[in-house]
Amino acid sequence: MTTLTAEPRPDSLVGRLNLADPGLTARLHGGLADAESRLRETAADVPSALVAEWSRYLIEAGGKRLRPLLVLLAAEFGAKSDEADGADGADGAAAGRISDAAALVELVHVASLHHDDVMDGARSRHGVPSAPARWGNRTAVLLGDRLLVKAGQLAADLGDGAIRLQGEAAERLVRGQLRELTGPEAGESPVTHHFAVIADKTGSLLSLAVRLGAEVAGAPEPAVRALAAYGEQLGIVFQLSDDLLDFASEPADSGKDAALDLAVGVRTLPVLLALSEDGPRAAELRALLEAGPLADDSDRRRAAELMRNSSAEARARELLHACATDARDALAALPDVPARAALAALVGLVEHRSA
Ligand code: IPE
Ligand code: IPE
Ligand code: MG
Ligand code: MG
Repeated sequence: MTTLTAEPRPDSLVGRLNLADPGLTARLHGGLADAESRLRETAADVPSALVAEWSRYLIEAGGKRLRPLLVLLAAEFGAKSDEADGADGADGAAAGRISDAAALVELVHVASLHHDDVMDGARSRHGVPSAPARWGNRTAVLLGDRLLVKAGQLAADLGDGAIRLQGEAAERLVRGQLRELTGPEAGESPVTHHFAVIADKTGSLLSLAVRLGAEVAGAPEPAVRALAAYGEQLGIVFQLSDDLLDFASEPADSGKDAALDLAVGVRTLPVLLALSEDGPRAAELRALLEAGPLADDSDRRRAAELMRNSSAEARARELLHACATDARDALAALPDVPARAALAALVGLVEHRSA
């Protein structure tokens, strides 16, 4: 089992934000360490050593912990943020509720990864075999269900507001995944459909993270609204950059299978844009993609290469950049505290991420 310490990992998102405020940096490192303990404890809370080991597997294999970080940054806008830095008594209880919220959101995320890897037939996640590759689809589905239910139990401890928010986000997440499978409705533009899918499957959870952090910390309603809009938009930025990474990265960088969206025929934004281009390279790509899932490795590599050199890649990057600007703009309504600068810096990291 990985040893848990409050020491920041050199590759942690907090480290990469280059925050100017040492107080905020310390609160974030402390909050993430507490959330990590809560996450592992909650996942492993089961009277079976084997189920505990399965439940911890993907959590211990890695992950950027973006969603817990968003909970903590949003909590900075709350009335209780000054007190919530780990002291005893009432202050400790406030900090504990924020750690629970951070663990809750990561549990929903990890649950969705179990289910997503079954859906996508993914063999790798976080640089290790995915849960379905390791234990089969039946176990992976049940582990995903279990982690989702554990998140629900944490929400119940946090109160009605948290249950309502978690329920809404989980419903949207599943709806987004289902609509990725159904494709566009009759007459719906594929690009419009894709944006609705990514807002639902990814924006929902990033928005939950900031809303929950803000509400648990007692932030005023206008701040909650601005943070929710930011989270939703950051989710879209996150998923668009993930879609670009699918064919850009080597598996060693992302810890995931290379060109999996291409192979299984997920119509991401750059793929949709490439399918509507002219010219011989676009025609070759269209022929490859329209033939159905790319079972053959050399077809998959060729499609990825054509995507990397297509103008669709550049057009998708422009749209990604516009969404990143919208995410930063959503922050204008918030007070100018160090957490706001951190949220703005996070947009840049997500837009240009390589893992
Ligand atoms: C992966 O999310 C799922 C998507 C929404 C694309 P992350 O990239 O945040 O997953 P971690 O860092 O591996 O947990
Ligand atoms: C991410 O799905 C969204 C959820 C897990 C809900 P993807 O299939 O796009 O993400 P990766 O590339 O497997 O992480
Ligand atoms: Mg996937
Ligand atoms: Mg998927």
